[in-house]
Amino acid sequence: MRLFLDTANLDEIRQAARWGFISGVTTNPSLAAKEGIGDLGSYREAVLEITRLVDGPVSVEVTSTEVAEMVAQARGIASWHPNVVVKLPSTLQGFEAMAQLRPLGIRVNQTLCFSLNQALLGAQLGAYFVSPFVGRLDDEGHDGMALVAEMVEVFRRYKIASQVLAASLRHPRHVVEAARAGADISTLPFKVLVQMAHHPLTDVGVQRFVQDWQRPLRIHS
Ligand code: G3P
Repeated sequence: MRLFLDTANLDEIRQAARWGFISGVTTNPSLAAKEGIGDLGSYREAVLEITRLVDGPVSVEVTSTEVAEMVAQARGIASWHPNVVVKLPSTLQGFEAMAQLRPLGIRVNQTLCFSLNQALLGAQLGAYFVSPFVGRLDDEGHDGMALVAEMVEVFRRYKIASQVLAASLRHPRHVVEAARAGADISTLPFKVLVQMAHHPLTDVGVQRFVQDWQRPLRIHS
């Protein structure tokens, strides 16, 4: 399972790129707005910087909900950089836009996916990624990870090429569960990526090794 970073914060992306864990980035209008990005021009500038930091897919979402406007935005966004994947919502308008974009070879990340039925519709349209929103389903009392598992099972059974991109992951256990369910990719907030690396026994172990090594009477074999 590959790991993407779910953020539009350039410092977080820079740091994660230095660690070498991530092979892609996902953004959305909420994440962009959090960084003070308020128009497609500044969204483009930020995305171009991200493509310089990470050599992998960078998902960028359309901001319209109307088919013709979504298609126009998607065409523009896709022209920013070859690594850009355009995020379109799991709505009838989003699906119609996907159908129009398909012959143009524009890669799509079907976002806001909350059911296997929505995932199957995106798969018919050749979505490159389909993104089940695990945490938001959990928030509503559903089992978000069950959707990831269903999608993996069905996509494999029918040899559907769309990749399952587990999104809206909120804590490290979500990452473990997405990996066990067979997700192709998990996209994570920076905080969760950091949490993945930490274990108290590692910290205690490192501290003990350092202390033992610093003892004056060392016995070497
Ligand atoms: O990748 C989708 C993600 O940004 C949504 O996460 O925590 O807002 O549900 P969240």
